[in-house]
Amino acid sequence: MEKKTFYITTPIYYPSDKLHIGHAYCTVAADTMARFKRLQGYDVMFLTGTDEHGQKIEDIAKAKGMTPKAYVDGVVAGIKDLWKLMNISNDRFIRTTDDYHEQAVQKIFKRLYEQGDIYKGEYKGKYCKPCESFWTDSQLVDGKCPDCGREVVEAHEEAYFFRLSAYADRLVKYYEEHPDFMEPQSRLNEMINNFIKPGLEDLCVSRTSFKWGIPVDFDPNHVVYVWVDALSNYITALGYGNDKYHDFDKYWPADVHLVGKEIMRFHSIIWPAMLMALDLPLPKKVFGHGWLLLEGGKMSKSKGNVVDPVVLCNRYGVDAIRYFLMREIPFGSDGVFSNESLITRINSDLANDLGNLVSRTVSMVEKYFGGTLPVEREAEPLDDELIAMAQGLRDKVADNIDRFQLPQALGEIFKLISRSNKYIDETTPWALGKDESKRARLATVLYNLLESIRVASVLLTPFMPQTAPKIWEQVGVPQELTTWESVASFGQLPAEVTVKKGETLFPRIDLAKELQELEEAMKAAQQPKEEKKESAVPGIAPLIDIDTFMKGDLRVAKIVECVPVKRAKKLLKLQLDDGLGGRQVVSGIAPWYKPEDLVGKKVIIVANLQPVKLCGEESQGMILAADAGENDVKVLFVDDSVPAGSKIH
Ligand code: ME8
Ligand code: MG
Repeated sequence: MEKKTFYITTPIYYPSDKLHIGHAYCTVAADTMARFKRLQGYDVMFLTGTDEHGQKIEDIAKAKGMTPKAYVDGVVAGIKDLWKLMNISNDRFIRTTDDYHEQAVQKIFKRLYEQGDIYKGEYKGKYCKPCESFWTDSQLVDGKCPDCGREVVEAHEEAYFFRLSAYADRLVKYYEEHPDFMEPQSRLNEMINNFIKPGLEDLCVSRTSFKWGIPVDFDPNHVVYVWVDALSNYITALGYGNDKYHDFDKYWPADVHLVGKEIMRFHSIIWPAMLMALDLPLPKKVFGHGWLLLEGGKMSKSKGNVVDPVVLCNRYGVDAIRYFLMREIPFGSDGVFSNESLITRINSDLANDLGNLVSRTVSMVEKYFGGTLPVEREAEPLDDELIAMAQGLRDKVADNIDRFQLPQALGEIFKLISRSNKYIDETTPWALGKDESKRARLATVLYNLLESIRVASVLLTPFMPQTAPKIWEQVGVPQELTTWESVASFGQLPAEVTVKKGETLFPRIDLAKELQELEEAMKAAQQPKEEKKESAVPGIAPLIDIDTFMKGDLRVAKIVECVPVKRAKKLLKLQLDDGLGGRQVVSGIAPWYKPEDLVGKKVIIVANLQPVKLCGEESQGMILAADAGENDVKVLFVDDSVPAGSKIH
C-alpha cells in the first residue's frame, strides 16, 4: 500500500534581517507537525524557504552598497544555519531567486495573462513599502497601513492586474463548503468582514518602480508583484511549471500552510483565487497562528525588541527552547515571551518533572538491581491507572496534533510524566527496597516507570528530537521500541531491561542570577559586530571611517587649577575652563608634570567621554598626551591664542 502523504509549509521568510524567536516559533511548529506525521508513518514533504525579491530588499542592499543577490545570499546562509541549529527537518528549502522558481513564476504569470485573468491597467493607490502591500482607502486604519501601522504613500504606475474581484463569490462558496479551510475559525470571520464584504478589488500584480523581482517576460519593464512570486513557491517547489522537481502530483494539494495571522489574507484570499485561476485544487487548510509578543508589542527589528533564538539555544539547549515555544502559547493565539517564563518552564517542567523522573527511576534500578531488572513481577491494582494512561496517550496526542493543539498535545504527555512521579510517591520504592520479600514488587514498579518514560519520550520526539534519544540511552530503549507502533501498547521493554545513568537532562537554573546574565548576553548579541578593517600600515590601528572619528568631541581647554590626588602617585586633579562652564579632569601625568608647571596652559581634551571615578575623584574627560619614548609622556599644549572651548577636527 502507498504511504499517505502529508505536505506542510511555513511562510517563506524575508531575508531582510536576522530572524528572531517569532520566526523560529512558526518554523518549530511546522517542524513538530512534520516530525509527528513522519513518526506516524506518513510520507512527509516539509517545505520552508526565503522570499527574496521586492523593493524592501533592493533598498536594504543599496544602503549596504551591495547587489541584492550578494546581500540575500549572506542572510539566507544565516537563516539556513539557524534552522540547522534548531533541528528543523525541512525536506526542501526554496529560494525565490532559484532559477527554476523564477521561470515557473513567469509561466504562471503569462498563462494568467493569456487567459484574461491578468490584464494591463493603471494603478493609483496607497502603498506600504515595508509590507509591500497596496491598500484601498477603506482598508487603511487612521490613514496608516492596517498591518504594521506605518505611513503609506500615494503610488501611480502602469501595471498589470489580477482579476481578484471575479473570484469573490467562488471564494465565499468555497469557505462555506469547506468549513475547515481556515483555522482558527475567528480568522474566517476576519477575512469575510474585513476583506470580502467591503468588496474585493482587482489586485495590482506588477511593478515598474524597481528592478529586483522576476521580470514579466513579455513586458520586461515590469517585475512580478512579490506576493504572486512568493505564494507560487508552494507549488513551484514541487515541480509545478519546472523540471527541477517532480512531486507535484504526489503532494499537492498541501495539507496545511502554516502562516502568521497577518499574512492570512494573502493565503486565504489571493492564493486560493490564483489557484482557482490556474485550475488547481486548493490547500486543505490554512492555519493562522498568533504572534509572540514582547512587552505588549510584536517583536520586530525596527522596534528593536527582538529576541535572538541563537543566544537562547546556546544557553539552554535547542530542545528547551522548542519545548517552551510549543508549550507556552495557545496555538492560534498571541502569547508573551519573557525570559522569566522561559526559565520557570525549564525548571518546573523539564528539570523537575521530566528530568527528575528519568534520573530517579534510573538511579533506583541501579541502586536496587545493579542496573538490570530481574524477571520476577508482582502487579497491584494501583498500577492500572498508570498503565491505562500510558496506553491511551498515543491517540490523545495524535488527536491534539491533528487539531493543531500543540500545547495540549504536550500537556497530555506531561500528564503521564506527572502521574509517573506521583506513582513513585504512592509505591514508595525506597521502602520496598528495604524488604527482601518485595523484590518482585519493586521490579514491577520500576518496570512500569521505565515503560511510561519510554512511551512519553517516543511521543516527545517530534517536539524534542535531541532529548528523546538521550532518554532512551539511559532507560535502555532499543531503536525498534521507539516507533509509532511500539507505543500503541504497554509492556514492550524486555523484562530484564538494563539502564545506564547519564548526564542530567536539564540542569536547574538559578532564576535571579540567570535573568541578569541572559539580559547581558542578549544585549551583547545585538551589538553589530565591528568589521575589522586592516590598516594599510603595520602597527597602526584598524581603519575607521570619518563618521566614527567625528563621534569624538575634541576641545581646547585652559588649566585653571591643578592639585595632586591623595594616595595616588600618578594622578593630578585639574580644573579646566572648557568654554562651556568648566569641568574637572583627573589625569595620570603626575610623574612628568608638577602642578605649577601646568596652571595657565592650554590643552586638548576629549570632551564627550563617559565620566569615570579615579581614586574617588570624578574625571569628566581626558587630556591628550603623546607617548614620547620609553617611559616619557608629553602633554600636547595648544597655542595661547586658541580660545578655550574651540572644537578640533
Ligand atoms: O511575511 N511571532 O515574511 P516574514 C510569531 N515573506 N510569528 C512571527 C513573528 C512573531 N513575533 N514575527 C514574524 C513574510 N512572524 C512573507 C511570507 S509566504 C508566501 C511569504 C512570522 O519574514 C510571520 O507571522 O515577514 C510570518 O508568518 C512569518 O514569520 C514570516 O514573516
Ligand atoms: Mg511580516
